[in-house]
Amino acid sequence: MGMHLAVVGGGVIGLSAAWSCARAGWRVTLLDPAPCSGASWVAGGMLAPVTETWPGEEDLLELGVASVRDWASFAADLERDSGLGAGLRAEGTVVAATGSGDRAELDTLAEHLARLGRPVQRLSGRELRRLEPAIGPDVRGGLSVPDDLAVDNRTLLDALLVACSRAGVVLERRAATAVLDDGERVTGVRCADRADRADGADGPDVHADAVLVAAGAHSSSLHPSLDGLVRPVKGEILRLTRRAGALAPPSRTVRALVDGRPVYAVPRDAPGHGDLVVGATTSENGFDTEVTVGGVRDLLRDAERILPGIAEYALTESAAGLRPGSRDNLPLIGATGPDGLFVATGHGRNGMLLAPVTAAAVVALVDRKPVPDVVRPADPARFALSGATAAEGS
Ligand code: GLY
Repeated sequence: MGMHLAVVGGGVIGLSAAWSCARAGWRVTLLDPAPCSGASWVAGGMLAPVTETWPGEEDLLELGVASVRDWASFAADLERDSGLGAGLRAEGTVVAATGSGDRAELDTLAEHLARLGRPVQRLSGRELRRLEPAIGPDVRGGLSVPDDLAVDNRTLLDALLVACSRAGVVLERRAATAVLDDGERVTGVRCADRADRADGADGPDVHADAVLVAAGAHSSSLHPSLDGLVRPVKGEILRLTRRAGALAPPSRTVRALVDGRPVYAVPRDAPGHGDLVVGATTSENGFDTEVTVGGVRDLLRDAERILPGIAEYALTESAAGLRPGSRDNLPLIGATGPDGLFVATGHGRNGMLLAPVTAAAVVALVDRKPVPDVVRPADPARFALSGATAAEGS
């Protein structure tokens, strides 16, 4: 019997890692009271390292570019193993700007990318409308970024769950409450006895040779070595469905700046998944997942400035998810705390994008092999010193 890995968290990162480790020969148990829910279920699904980039986040850009490059083969493997579509869309992304301030902001982004050797194509409003007739007359210019892709997050999660099951991953629908160790090594995971409550009686512990914490925004409470490393960053998102007579949605992801506020619209084509996902707000209110009136109003107002035809669509879903935010926006992928404890969390806005590169890195980590160079900056050890300093100062 192979070595036993317990994976805590059934979102895109936990499922991708569990599936990949099972394929690599590990006996895997996945712990989640409600797999495929949470932030991964709510997500917009952009695979957008370039259009999500920010000056000062070059390590994250490199990691994202490596992962988007791996996405096609990740999707092909997943489709082969699950027998289902992976939901990858290869149409690319455009970015639109309305006023002169927004256009200046996009110029700054384009110049930054050119300095990094990643030039993007600048387009006039008319050129953007030629590519995407759904874009309205308020848009005066923008960018084309054909290598920023998208995935239907719900199609992807369905395929990952089936691939995990076919690869022999055992799913336990219970909430993990703590990673257990004997002072030197991990020994397993303590879990609630039932799926529907994490605060009731403990059930039997899950014993394991190695534990991967991939519990998104909930990761920090599971072991003292993870304390304070991840915080919840709320995002509200809408799903719109085209009604008879309404204009067709765009075929690409359309991102935009509207009077300085970012908004995006990602097309979908799977039945029942809506035709357009519009997102997303950003706020920090602890573990609050209520959708606010102001959030819905802002998203609809800004999206309609860019895509006026959506006024005739039905608003079929609103939801909020908790992005797992790290202190420097880079994820945490590596070993931490007692021997045998690994972490893959803190992916912030980029969980879907970074799933392939994270899953491959986790296989290397649990097999005690070096991770690819591009993943090294994500080692949680980077916070060991600053964590100690913060604790001393408090
Ligand atoms: N990746 C988009 C978002 O987090 O809203």
